[in-house]
Amino acid sequence: MRLQPALFPALLPLGAVCFYWTSGTETSPADRRSNFSPSQISSIEQEAHGMLPNAALPSSISQDSLISLQLIAFNEIFEVAFFTELLFNLTNNVDGYELSDDNGESIIESILTIQNQEELHALQANQLLEYFGTNPIQPCNYSFPVSNLREAIWHASLFTSVNLGTMQDVTRIFADSGDTSLIQVLTSIIGQEGEQEGFFRIIQQKLPSEVPFLTASVREFTFTALRSHVIPGSCSHLDAIHLKTFAPLNLITTPVAETEIIQFSYPNQTYYGDLFAVYINQQNLPIVEAIGVNDVKDYAVNAEALFPYNANEMNGLTIMTLTNSPGPFIDAREVAKSTLFGPAFIIVN
Ligand SMILES: *[C@@H]1O[C@H](CO)[C@@H](O)[C@H](O)[C@H]1NC(C)=O
Ligand SMILES: *[C@@H]1O[C@H](CO)[C@@H](O)[C@H](O)[C@H]1NC(C)=O
Ligand SMILES: *[C@@H]1O[C@H](CO)[C@@H](O)[C@H](O)[C@H]1NC(C)=O
Repeated sequence: MRLQPALFPALLPLGAVCFYWTSGTETSPADRRSNFSPSQISSIEQEAHGMLPNAALPSSISQDSLISLQLIAFNEIFEVAFFTELLFNLTNNVDGYELSDDNGESIIESILTIQNQEELHALQANQLLEYFGTNPIQPCNYSFPVSNLREAIWHASLFTSVNLGTMQDVTRIFADSGDTSLIQVLTSIIGQEGEQEGFFRIIQQKLPSEVPFLTASVREFTFTALRSHVIPGSCSHLDAIHLKTFAPLNLITTPVAETEIIQFSYPNQTYYGDLFAVYINQQNLPIVEAIGVNDVKDYAVNAEALFPYNANEMNGLTIMTLTNSPGPFIDAREVAKSTLFGPAFIIVN
């Protein structure tokens, strides 16, 4: 089934939708919700160094692509919250966020620009949702697992990588469900996020470009990972995003650029039978390894598996999950279908 625009005739430029975007009072940046006045939007556009697209909107959309837009909005709003808090930390002398005199200004300027660009990505996805009669995604309260600039940049680089993988899945879904007119703007965002990723990598003294073919991911992995940062009870509407989530998988070892046995744990909620460690890296067939259970303590199962770096040149992002099937899996989607725990993320180099 395809959905028609809810409020406006087809082919209305997105800019015109902005005009109807209701809002009254000005709010502080930290307090922004998805309702912006036209003047707020133009100030975001100035800080973002560019504008919301004003090209014609599609005349219909598939249900599955709407779910993708909900996820994109959820993800972009999460990123806005992260960069807003990071900017606050950087500009308020928070311990661990001190900048050096020589590059401090440029880091703040870059993150401010990224924050506003993410704001426009979020707005664009939410406007499409509203246009097709679906509730826009609202911000939640989040807790970020970082307490200094180094960790914050590492985390930004991680969620950007995962997003770059998931956008591959979303592109496929747009194509498979006949929503090809959304692909161009989506790929413009993918390239943009890749530019951000290069910046995050340079700050970490890594080479800007990670691997020749970026690691694939799927919507369910992003949704599970993002939800783990949402403070419970701070947003009720996430159930409206019809995507599966999985139980947690916690890496204990931080894998490096060598083949080794890695340790991890997962909750012992139910007995599931045999589990398999699966690694998704670059555009290669997922790698499956047997797991060995070491012990069960405090309802957590401690286990280990081989991380076969050397044979597979497993640089960049690796997505690890535990599945109830040994595969073989043809791609990340097939892995997700058999996943019970995860994803956990590994970044080498
Ligand atoms: C900002 O600093 C606080 C206090 O250290 C920390 O809890 C929070 O995670 C930091 N947020 C970001 C995005 O760096
Ligand atoms: C979310 O954050 C707002 C603003 O800081 C606060 O007033 C509210 O109590 C928080 N809600 C939850 C459920 O944490
Ligand atoms: C988890 O607990 C159940 C009992 O509730 C037990 O039968 C099972 O062996 C445990 N799983 C593992 C992997 O140890």
